[in-house]
Amino acid sequence: MKLWGGRFSEDTNQLVLEYTASISFDKRLFPYDIRGSIAHARMLGQTGILAPHEARAIIDGLESLLADYEAGKLEFRLEDEDVHMNVERLLTERIGDVAKKLHTARSRNDQVALDMHLWARDAVDELLAGVKRLERALVSVAERHLDVIVPGFTHLQRAQPVLFAHHLLAYVWMLLRDERRLLALKDEIDRMPLGAAALAGTTFPIDREMVAEELGFTRLYENSMDAVSDRDYLLGLLFNCATVMTHLSRLAEEMVLWSSEEFGWIELSDAYATGSSIMPQKKNPDVPELVRGKTGRVYGHLMGLLTVLKGLPLAYNKDLQEDKEGAFDAVDTVVPALELMAGTVETMKVRRERLQHAFARDFSNATDLADYLVRKGLPFREAHEVVGRLVADALAKGTNLAGLSLEEMRARSPLIDEDAYEALDIARVVEARQSRGGTAPSAVRLQLALAKEAVEGQ
Ligand code: ARG
Repeated sequence: MKLWGGRFSEDTNQLVLEYTASISFDKRLFPYDIRGSIAHARMLGQTGILAPHEARAIIDGLESLLADYEAGKLEFRLEDEDVHMNVERLLTERIGDVAKKLHTARSRNDQVALDMHLWARDAVDELLAGVKRLERALVSVAERHLDVIVPGFTHLQRAQPVLFAHHLLAYVWMLLRDERRLLALKDEIDRMPLGAAALAGTTFPIDREMVAEELGFTRLYENSMDAVSDRDYLLGLLFNCATVMTHLSRLAEEMVLWSSEEFGWIELSDAYATGSSIMPQKKNPDVPELVRGKTGRVYGHLMGLLTVLKGLPLAYNKDLQEDKEGAFDAVDTVVPALELMAGTVETMKVRRERLQHAFARDFSNATDLADYLVRKGLPFREAHEVVGRLVADALAKGTNLAGLSLEEMRARSPLIDEDAYEALDIARVVEARQSRGGTAPSAVRLQLALAKEAVEGQ
């Protein structure tokens, strides 16, 4: 018997049933549906819409269903379509006809909107915890490697040397921005839709504030049509998931590069790497690769929901049921990605010895020789030209700038003296960038302190 079967005389076609049912994926809303229904029933009792003993019986029944759900003892039925009707059927089996009064002054349209708000609120908390976990991992690795210098790139061509800590901290700032966006999203989710009923409100004297308060909301949807058709907060959730994945994917890509023998900056811990079934020597960065790869599905879910919403007339349409799988999958993809990236970062070994030789034959100190000439009075554009010629000289000779003799240097500019070699020293090159936010150890120490404060204080 269908809960809405009154006006129907034929059974639903099996394929239609399977096509329209959502229980296979919305069953995870069960605990939220119960919480929302308890708040609704309590309000119906307090406002006199239901008799106190009726509300009590319903609430007790819902609580016992929740206990059975947590014990894995409930069975959902496809014929009941979705989680809401499964709950109502289970409740009716348990407490009898009084259960049929629960749906007074309510529709599945505002009910599902409430469930998704409650779920999304928890999902944001999980994302926030994951972001924080990765921030802390990056901060701790940065802190332990303040002395390690790596090549910095533009166009993936060596540009200027930077502290490895400086490079890692760049990701911490991205994640701190993610955190702030997630907190703003939490504020958006804080609006209670129940009481909108199907779309127009209800004829019963409900108390929406009471329900909101019990469920921890501080605001109400002030338009019943908006309440049942708004999915902006899920777009926000998906956008946040997509942005976090963008950051994870960039870090993942770098870790793939860094762990290659060509870079040789890091070695992944055995616990966070995988092998090859044919090549015995391999240690593959599967986790960062999958994080990079799974970014695609998260972007897809954002695009998917945008497309579902585009052109939907008000108010509820069944299309809106399509909001769920993508949102669930996005959160289920991002949360473990954050945890795994934190573990991968925390356990990787930084190959200090190998990095010490990273600058043996490179030109990432060229800007510093130009700056040296500027300090001697040459306009920067001319200094750039002089050093460019010196780079060409060194390349022709198979060496780098420090490998040129003083005569060879002076042949390009008489302003160059012995002290130019000091300016070319890689540690000096890094140390010299003391501008706020720059890569000098002193500046990075300040940055680290600020990042830690932001991570622990936000
Ligand atoms: N399973 C539905 C969904 O997720 C619940 C709302 C159904 N409402 C309706 N009028 N058919 O959107």
